[in-house]
Amino acid sequence: MADAVHFWVNDIEHRHAGDPAMPLLWYLRDAAGLTGTKFGCGIGACGACTVHVDGRAQRACVTTVASIAERHVTTIEGLAPGDALHPVQAAWIEVDVPQCGYCQAGQIMAAVDLLRRVPAPSDADNATITNLCRCGMYPRIRDAIRLAAQRLN
Ligand code: FES
Ligand code: FES
Repeated sequence: MADAVHFWVNDIEHRHAGDPAMPLLWYLRDAAGLTGTKFGCGIGACGACTVHVDGRAQRACVTTVASIAERHVTTIEGLAPGDALHPVQAAWIEVDVPQCGYCQAGQIMAAVDLLRRVPAPSDADNATITNLCRCGMYPRIRDAIRLAAQRLN
């Protein structure tokens, strides 16, 4: 039997001794109990499952557990310590972004990654976030990213 895959999720060590081809999304939701990361399409198209792998946004439904060996995964639950909010989460609440909310964890993870790379993103930069929102909350998502950028700079 293959060795267990060793990695970190929200700074906690994990070992997965099962199928190394298991999608990270299933591991997070079913094995780790971290259900903030959502399943939408399962084919890397919608972004509902966006997490960070070594600080960069990645779609967990098309990421195998084997591919994250010795790497650090952050989910929406680990974005800020304890009950604290990340500035992007705070901006999201202030702008009242969510409608149904289903896509929002993935949107926030994508926005945090963008703001780390581009501190003052333009609308063109915002458009590089390809996460889908079936409720069409794109204008508020852009407003919240702008507000978060002001707070972070
Ligand atoms: S569920 Fe992963 S991109 Fe849609
Ligand atoms: S808020 Fe409903 S899918 Fe985005």
